[in-house]
Amino acid sequence: MVTLTLPRNSRVNRGKAWNQPVRAKGDWKEFQIYRWSPDDTENPRVDSYWVDKNDCGPMVLDALIKIKAEVDATLTFRRSCREGICGSCAMNIDGTNTLACLKSIDEVKGPIKIYPLPHMKVVKDLVPDMTNFYAQHQSVEPWLKTSTPTPPKEWKQSKPDREKLDGLYECILCACCSTSCPSYWWNQDRYLGPAVLLQAYRWVIDSRDEATGERLDNLEDPFRLYRCHTILNCAKACPKGLNPAKAIAELKKLMVERRV
Ligand code: SF4
Ligand code: SF4
Ligand code: FES
Repeated sequence: MVTLTLPRNSRVNRGKAWNQPVRAKGDWKEFQIYRWSPDDTENPRVDSYWVDKNDCGPMVLDALIKIKAEVDATLTFRRSCREGICGSCAMNIDGTNTLACLKSIDEVKGPIKIYPLPHMKVVKDLVPDMTNFYAQHQSVEPWLKTSTPTPPKEWKQSKPDREKLDGLYECILCACCSTSCPSYWWNQDRYLGPAVLLQAYRWVIDSRDEATGERLDNLEDPFRLYRCHTILNCAKACPKGLNPAKAIAELKKLMVERRV
């Protein structure tokens, strides 16, 4: 049998325990949180933090904010809107990619394990490096492209055409889907992944856009689009209830239709 040895710095160590309850009073919950800093040579570790639920909001993000404000100011994570709109608090909670602001603490039995989004480089603690993800998004040119002269007031769209954007425009680019996609884990240098392909489809089917052919040409590649193997992890992961796999299937269908 082949024995593989992981690099020394890939081991995640057990870290410190913070704010452990000394009294039975209160309703305490343990949060086991991944910690890593580029500023030292230490291996990553998992620190335990205890929070009294009686003195904290109901969501995992509330607990993270409380920990940062009152227990350990060095804990690093992204967040902004705290209502599922900005997409910045995406992380892996209890083994699932989701938004910390939409995940209720009481949904998880026992200690809550929190890691950064998987298979991304880590900037610090729970902050993944989104550089490649955003560059991929930019590569599909996510804006209206037209060649006819701009109308004096606005680009009009019929109601049925507008409805074709439902299930697409709601995407908040949190990357929960892409980072739960095995094809994206292994090929994220070349495969665009479910989030960006959903965005690509959003512009392809926009009745006002006049660059459909060019957009499909841009996806005609063995990796950019065709690495999707319909495993459907993406649809399961999306905290907004969207279905990127369906958008990808529609793109593939359009590719075939334009060949005949
Ligand atoms: S359906 Fe495609 S994009 Fe979605 S998880 Fe599976 S391989 Fe990835
Ligand atoms: S499709 Fe869903 S999971 Fe994927 S980036 Fe958009 S909102 Fe996030
Ligand atoms: S803080 Fe904006 S989506 Fe969670």
